[in-house]
Amino acid sequence: MAYETIIVEVDDDVATITLNRPDALNALNSQLLGELAQALTEADANDKVRCIILTGSAKAFAAGADIKEMSEKSFVEMFLGDFFEPATEAVAKVRKPVIAAVSGYALGGGCELAMMCDFIIASETAKFGQPEINLGVIAGIGGTQRLPRYVGKAKAMDMHLTGRFMDAEEAERSGLVSRVVPVKQLMEEAQSAAAKIAEKSMLASIAAKQAVNRAFETTLDEGLLFERRLFHSLFATEDQKEGMSAFLEKRTPQFRDR
Ligand code: HXC
Repeated sequence: MAYETIIVEVDDDVATITLNRPDALNALNSQLLGELAQALTEADANDKVRCIILTGSAKAFAAGADIKEMSEKSFVEMFLGDFFEPATEAVAKVRKPVIAAVSGYALGGGCELAMMCDFIIASETAKFGQPEINLGVIAGIGGTQRLPRYVGKAKAMDMHLTGRFMDAEEAERSGLVSRVVPVKQLMEEAQSAAAKIAEKSMLASIAAKQAVNRAFETTLDEGLLFERRLFHSLFATEDQKEGMSAFLEKRTPQFRDR
């Protein structure tokens, strides 16, 4: 399918989706989010794809929801249209691992979109923020819920109430991003992480993703039980036998997602 606001490339077993509205710093409008949801759903269903990278430009991952599109909307339109909910739901529901590679601005909905991914690799120029308060609104696609889970209440409140930006160094220190690299190395680093993930058994990758995500949804006891059940279930797979035999035989495992 031909997209107008994103670019999709599938290279080996990694799909890279690039947000592409350069004139608006990749501001998220309905078209872009609809295309992104479709591309992610397709990548998730494509047997060839084993990991997905979501990225933007050097200047902006995404500078937020499109303020021009939103500015004249009424409460009734936002409420009945459940603004952005179907698209963002699709993004958060992808089963395969998704890495956000962030350079430049990741603000408002852009920060929220990056946080929907499984982890964030940032360039040294990345700037994260939830500046919706400056527009007389608040975050609307998960920022008030996900940011405190990443960085704790103090920094989340600070960012949502003052609208200040967090640079890459602070973001790494606070747990929002997993790695920071020079801007020129961003895609190389994301691709190398994706290639590492793509080597693993998809069964184990999906189980790991589900188990870590469950940590944010339930009690420790229930989460531990969920993890244990998944862990036990992986012993029904050929990949577990292959992975452990390969270790003992001192060779590289050949996972087949079986
Ligand atoms: C629409 C945007 C935009 C946005 C930038 N642009 N951000 N258009 N929506 N969120 C456009 C500008 O209007 C401008 O277009 C062009 O991109 C370049 O931006 P400049 O402002 O000229 O660039 P610069 O001076 O470098 O400043 C960069 C910036 C600033 C600091 C990122 O653009 C900015 O503050 N943007 C808004 C950030 C924001 O408030 N985000 C939260 C949005 S609300 P023209 O045509 O003038 O050249 C949100 C809610 C989420 O995200 C919940 C959804 C349900």
